[in-house]
Amino acid sequence: MIKLVARLLGHRKPAFGEARPVDAAAIAAVHGVSFQRGWGEDEIHRLLIERNVVAHRAMSGRTLIGFILSRIAAGEAEILSVAIAPAWRGRALAGPLLDLHLRRLAGLGVGSVFLEVDKQNAPARRLYRRAGFREVGQRQGYYQSGAAALVLRRDLG
Ligand SMILES: CC(C)(COP(=O)(O)OP(=O)(O)OC[C@H]1O[C@@H](n2cnc3c(N)ncnc32)[C@H](O)[C@@H]1OP(=O)(O)O)[C@@H](O)C(=O)NCCC(=O)NCCS
Repeated sequence: MIKLVARLLGHRKPAFGEARPVDAAAIAAVHGVSFQRGWGEDEIHRLLIERNVVAHRAMSGRTLIGFILSRIAAGEAEILSVAIAPAWRGRALAGPLLDLHLRRLAGLGVGSVFLEVDKQNAPARRLYRRAGFREVGQRQGYYQSGAAALVLRRDLG
């Protein structure tokens, strides 16, 4: 009964899984409302069909509410982008999505994962710290806003 009411109200427990090329438009929509420079559907589609790109999604029913994308090269991975749709932020969804993604990367033999994060992006920095990333460098003036980027690394395995 509770499940039925929750479903009618649209409050389904999000589910996490692999993202596929058919998710390109939905990922582009979440990306567009999450970053100053959104990536178009075509750009995302091109990434999703690359053999060395790994992608996961968070779904609420049939609605894509979050994603994460990485590219693997020479045993290392770079997280290219991660976002949760604005209405779903602050509900600890990014953590399990990132966890699933890291486990998949480890399973593919990736030894280390890198990413760049805006020094001023407190939620993202907390997310990565909690997931065991540590700072290994800084890039001054990396973003259009002039903000510096932190380079973070997490070793897997
Ligand atoms: C970063 C992002 C993916 C986190 O997703 P989320 O599901 O909302 O994450 P959580 O709810 O687990 O929150 C992450 C942490 O930030 C904290 N947080 C949330 N909002 C915050 C805020 N406005 N200021 C400071 N900390 C905040 C949470 O308390 C949590 O920390 P904790 O685990 O120590 O309690 C999401 O905010 C997002 O999509 N942002 C826009 C895109 C982006 O910046 N991506 C990262 C690029 S590197």
